[in-house]
Amino acid sequence: MTTLRIFPDAHALSRAAAQTVVSAAQQAVRQRGIFRLALSGGSTPRGLYRALSESPWREALPWAHTHLFWGDERCRPPDHPESNYRLVHETLLASLALSTEQIHPIPCQGNNPQQAAAAYQRELEAHFGGPPAFDLALLGLGQDGHTASLFPGSPALTVHDRWAVAVHAPQLPTPWRVSLTLPALNRARQALFLVSGAGKAEIVRAVLQGPPGRFPAQAVRPRETLLWYLDAAAAARLDSSAEAKVGV
Ligand code: 6PG
Repeated sequence: MTTLRIFPDAHALSRAAAQTVVSAAQQAVRQRGIFRLALSGGSTPRGLYRALSESPWREALPWAHTHLFWGDERCRPPDHPESNYRLVHETLLASLALSTEQIHPIPCQGNNPQQAAAAYQRELEAHFGGPPAFDLALLGLGQDGHTASLFPGSPALTVHDRWAVAVHAPQLPTPWRVSLTLPALNRARQALFLVSGAGKAEIVRAVLQGPPGRFPAQAVRPRETLLWYLDAAAAARLDSSAEAKVGV
């Protein structure tokens, strides 16, 4: 099932996303005693991560039973401005007292992305005792339709026998990355795309209402629920009469 929700601005988007994360966490812990969340990088989720560190969501989320993973990582040291680990640390982790066992960063410091992807594969298999099954995967959308570090035309899009893969994106300031693969993302129970800003309006229209099969984001099909949360600026070019169709 795909659900599209549009919010007045990025602040409202972040607060709604925080509530969705809390609800997913409470349900996962009720049903399985543990909540596994895959975090997205970039700038959009900053507001969400800050909200999760503040009332009322901080108190409502069962942190003691929560494990945090990353959907992708730019291969830089963890204190580098480009690091997705640093993004999560400064907006959320620094204000929580999670044990290191609950935090599963992608060990990609920049030296060998292939080794980092293999190490993350092993960590996922050890934690899940087999294939990963995130309760919720947070995702962003690039203006080229990428998500996580799965870029249009990338060989990583055709990797189906692994959960994590090294990605070379020479067009980016950090060309080496490690990303979850589509099979890993699509084994998640739920996926939540957070998209904000007028700069994303055209790609949002193309992904949600354009021809299927053109962008990596259209290949994300979680097992239960696909959620798209947009602010009004990112939704500005959607044809309001048409239903959002993703990758049909
Ligand atoms: C990354 C992200 C990436 C991001 C999009 C959107 O590491 O860059 O995982 O997929 O979500 O590029 O980025 P913004 O939120 O900065 O627009």
